[in-house]
Order: sequence, then structure tokens, then C-alpha cells
Amino acid sequence: MAERLYEELGLVNTREMFKKAMAGGYAIPAYNFNNLEQLQAIIGGCAESNSPVILQVSSGARKYANQTLLRYMAKGAVEMCRQDLKSNIPIALHLDHGDTFDICKSCIDYGFSSVMIDGSHHPYEKNIEVTAQVVEYARKYDVSVEGELGVLAGIEDDVQAEHSHYTDPNQVQDFVKKTGVDSLAISIGTSHGAYKFKCAPGDVPPLRFDILEEIEKLIPGFPIVLHGASSVVQEYVAMINKYGGKMENAVGVPEDQLRRAAKSAVCKINIDSDGRLVVTAIIRKVLAENPSEFDPRKYLGPARDELKKLIIAKNTNVLGSAGQG
Ligand code: G3H
Ligand code: 13P
Ligand code: ZN
Repeated sequence: MAERLYEELGLVNTREMFKKAMAGGYAIPAYNFNNLEQLQAIIGGCAESNSPVILQVSSGARKYANQTLLRYMAKGAVEMCRQDLKSNIPIALHLDHGDTFDICKSCIDYGFSSVMIDGSHHPYEKNIEVTAQVVEYARKYDVSVEGELGVLAGIEDDVQAEHSHYTDPNQVQDFVKKTGVDSLAISIGTSHGAYKFKCAPGDVPPLRFDILEEIEKLIPGFPIVLHGASSVVQEYVAMINKYGGKMENAVGVPEDQLRRAAKSAVCKINIDSDGRLVVTAIIRKVLAENPSEFDPRKYLGPARDELKKLIIAKNTNVLGSAGQG
């Protein structure tokens, strides 16, 4: 019998969530968090919209927030959800873009219920080797594992690639079989960050749904993950620019394409940049309009409240996960 270390924190792995999402034609939101206010907004928004949720932590977030503190933040979030918000939504804690066996192992040992081993920067055989090694360890603790084939463009703290390489459908069956992963992140034209396309928001080229469809045929019913799926909400980009920021040509994935993806075998949609934009926009606005304000609660509070609204809107109008908790 596997020893589920994460059960002590009240968490679940992603297997059941993905099964239901696949059958129901919706996607589970995976929201990144680094601090208290983001976590409050994610749990509050998902409890209010009755959506299952994957709390996602990057290795950069882990360094920023401290791994021990993160463990108890996740535990506290689950307890707040159950006791104060009276919600029973399933909650997973997931490592985003783990790039070595060691970081995946450490997260499993700390109580994460799901990990991503991102071996996409390695040659194919090495990707299989490191992914299979993580799966073998994760099985002992019934932790779900996400692998990745193909490379997304985008420059962030710990996720860097200048050019994207679409996933080669010819590799997916072999990869899934040899590694034993529970889900697969693919590259079909999304990228990380707030500058995804070099065109106006209305002229964004369609994602490569042809590649997704080919993959779906080759591994039917297998959960697919979409990274780089922020829509880069223009209202918040405009607010940032209005209140002293400089974010020219920030463009994301149009919501109708995300809706289409959510109805397919895409069971998990990763959103980080949209949350960052909201928080920055509101903090800039509050501080610009109240220059003498110096109580962090007065700008972090409104930022948190707006982020919660965005999360409810995403779950309801884009992912279709609202009401599925
Ligand atoms: O995909 C990357 C996530 O947005 C995390 O970004 O490494 O800057 O925390 P980060
Ligand atoms: P965005 O930068 O589009 O929010 O993507 C986040 C992500 O893929 C986290 O893994
Ligand atoms: Zn990602």
C-alpha cells in the first residue's frame, strides 16, 4: 500500500480530478502562488465557484517562500477551505516545472500530491530516463506525475527557452508507455509570460489544434496539460500602463481557444501571468491614487480581491470547472 504523505495536509492527487474533467469536457485550473494573498484568492475563488483546484508552486516560488512554510500554507489553505468557507473542493499541491529528480523527490517528501518533471530540455532518451525515475519514486507515495514533450518559448525566473518546438505526436505513445506518467504537457503554440505573440491581441494565430487532435487519437483518454495559458487580460495591461507601468505589446492566448482546449483531452490549464498582471495593476492603481498610503493591507487586500474575481471568471467562463467541485 502506498503511503500518501499528502493526506496529512488534506490534499489529493490529480488522478480522480482528471478522470472527471475528461468525462465532463472541462479543465482543472492550476494557479501558481508565491504568497499569502495569492493563496487566499485562489482558494476563495475556487471555493466560491465550487471548482476543484491545483495549487501550483514553481522552484522559484519554493525558493522565494520557503519549502517548510509552503507546506503549512497549503495545509492552512485546506483547513480554511473546509472550516471557514465550508467547501469540500478537491485540492492538489503540485510542483510546477521540476527539472531534476531531487527537487521532485523533495517535494514529494514535503507533502506535495503531484509533481511535474520537466525533462523537455533534455534529449528524448534522457527525458524518458529522468521522468521514469520520478514516476518510480512517486508511485510509492501515490503522487501523480506530469511529464513534458516539446518545448514552450518564454523567459521567466526558472523556465527559459527562446524558441518553442511543437510536440512531435510520433513520440507520445512511446513516452507515456516508457515513463508511466499520469499526464502529459504538450507544446502547441502557447508560451510562458505576458508576451506570447508578436502581434495585436486580435490577430493571434490559432493554437495547433491539429497536433492536439493527432495526440488525442494516439493516446485516447490520456490527460493533456496546457502550459502558458494566460490570456493576458488587456484590461489589466491597460491599467498597468495607465498607472506608470510599461508593458507594451503584452498578448496572450484568446479565451475562445482556451475554451476549445478545455473541452478536449486538455484536463489541466496552467495560469500564472494573468494573476501577476491583476495584482500589479491593482497595486499600481491604489498607490497612484493614494500616494500617502503605506499599509500593505490597503494595496495587497484590493489586489487579492480582484484576483479572486478573475479566478471565478476563469473557472466559470473559460475552463468550465465551476460547479464541478
Ligand atoms: O511556468 C512558469 C511559471 O509561471 C512560474 O514562474 O518560475 O517565475 O515562478 P516562476
Ligand atoms: P502563463 O505564463 O501563461 O501564465 O503560464 C503559466 C505556466 O505555464 C506555469 O507552468
Ligand atoms: Zn509552465
